[in-house]
Amino acid sequence: MSRSAHPAGPRHADVLPEGHYTAPAADLNVLDPKVWAQTVTRTASGSVSVGGIDVATLAEEFGTPAYFVDETDFRARARAWRTAFGHDADVFYAGKAFLSRAVVRWLDEEGLNLDVCSGGELTTALSAGMPAERIAFHGNNKSVEEITKAIEVGVGRIVLDSFQEIVRVAHIAQSLGKRQRVQIRVTVGVEAHTHEFIATAHEDQKFGIALADGQAAEAVRRALTLDGLELIGIHSHIGSQIFDMAGFEVAARRVVSLLAQVRDEHGVELPEIDLGGGLGIAYTSDDDPREPHEIAKALGEIVTRECEAAKLRTPRISVEPGRAIVGPTAFTLYEVGTVKPLEGLRTYVSVDGGMSDNIRTALYDAEYSVALVSRTSDAEPMLVRVVGKHCESGDIVVKDAFLPSDLAPGDLIAVPATGAYCRSMASNYNHALRPPVVAVRDGEARVIVRRETEEDLLRLDVG
Ligand code: LLP
Repeated sequence: MSRSAHPAGPRHADVLPEGHYTAPAADLNVLDPKVWAQTVTRTASGSVSVGGIDVATLAEEFGTPAYFVDETDFRARARAWRTAFGHDADVFYAGKAFLSRAVVRWLDEEGLNLDVCSGGELTTALSAGMPAERIAFHGNNKSVEEITKAIEVGVGRIVLDSFQEIVRVAHIAQSLGKRQRVQIRVTVGVEAHTHEFIATAHEDQKFGIALADGQAAEAVRRALTLDGLELIGIHSHIGSQIFDMAGFEVAARRVVSLLAQVRDEHGVELPEIDLGGGLGIAYTSDDDPREPHEIAKALGEIVTRECEAAKLRTPRISVEPGRAIVGPTAFTLYEVGTVKPLEGLRTYVSVDGGMSDNIRTALYDAEYSVALVSRTSDAEPMLVRVVGKHCESGDIVVKDAFLPSDLAPGDLIAVPATGAYCRSMASNYNHALRPPVVAVRDGEARVIVRRETEEDLLRLDVG
């Protein structure tokens, strides 16, 4: 694809068509509970608090930019998923959304399992005491070292992603004298309604083995013949930030029809299916996500219905929500550095972070909300673009939003719903120091991932 050159006019950095933003909320001081973590509230003094602690106090103690995670909310969401799916199903939190040892302990205490997709995530999980049998190991190109470690420590399942990996995992397991529980990840041909980069179940992509052309059936046949493998089921993940259950319905139907085919061909009823993660959250007031109990009910009904029709025993279901658990539980706190009004266009608000702590806007055209949190204001709303301090014009945190027109350097603003895929995708671009993650609960705040320091940077740079 060639890109034509264009003159750098005033709207050079635009990434969305004109007029996609909605009108300002009636009162910019009101925090929409849909996008803010459970204990976030505006206090009588006008500033905002989380877990009972004022953001000004948090900024003073921990600095900015920083991510603040509402532990009460995280635990409540984890519990809601666990309860919704009950004892006949398993919830694997997808660690890629955000993983730290404190989070692993919260998950363990709330009865969730964990999905990891790298040796680093596996090490983090194990070092925080997550029992290996409650860990699922994912990835489209796991190294021999990663596979060996996963099998040695005894992970509950490895999700096989390719024909080569079927043989590789079988061989390593056998050489270790083990039989590894595995699932096969299939691509069911569903195109989830999400951004193209994060839709994963259409066939033209790197993950999984296609159901089409009998490939997945062939993968099952091979796995069943290998002594090092115990094939426990089929896995499907169709994408991320999805609101519409229709994609899951089609995926479940196709996975169940593969189970029926396996039964017919091999006389084996595979006992489990995993329908992956991908459930959407509210980034702005316009988003309407489903509750875990609605999702559990819908998925359970689809699978039961399809299995009855195929005369199969209903398999044990598992799901892998990442964003839906951690996403809404955190916000990023920034200090405003400069305010640059462009007459008739918008006002650029520069903060002390940017694409190094939230790459999602630049990468996926993601939408976010923002609020002034260190005080209230009755000033008129102004259209703003919240940008970072990095050396590119695409360094945008919030594309279009409204903030009070008396916003000034030194004000604290916060971007909600940054719990998922922000710290976990953070970078050191421009040698930025990645911000800390601070857990807040019942009037206490504690660092769970500390801020990087210049010493950290120099330690890696060995001269
Ligand atoms: N299971 C598997 C196999 C996955 O690949 C993923 C996400 C999940 C579960 C969890 O999906 P979730 O419930 O969090 O949507 N960086 C992108 C999202 C990439 C998702 C990758 N896989 C973003 O920031 O939107």
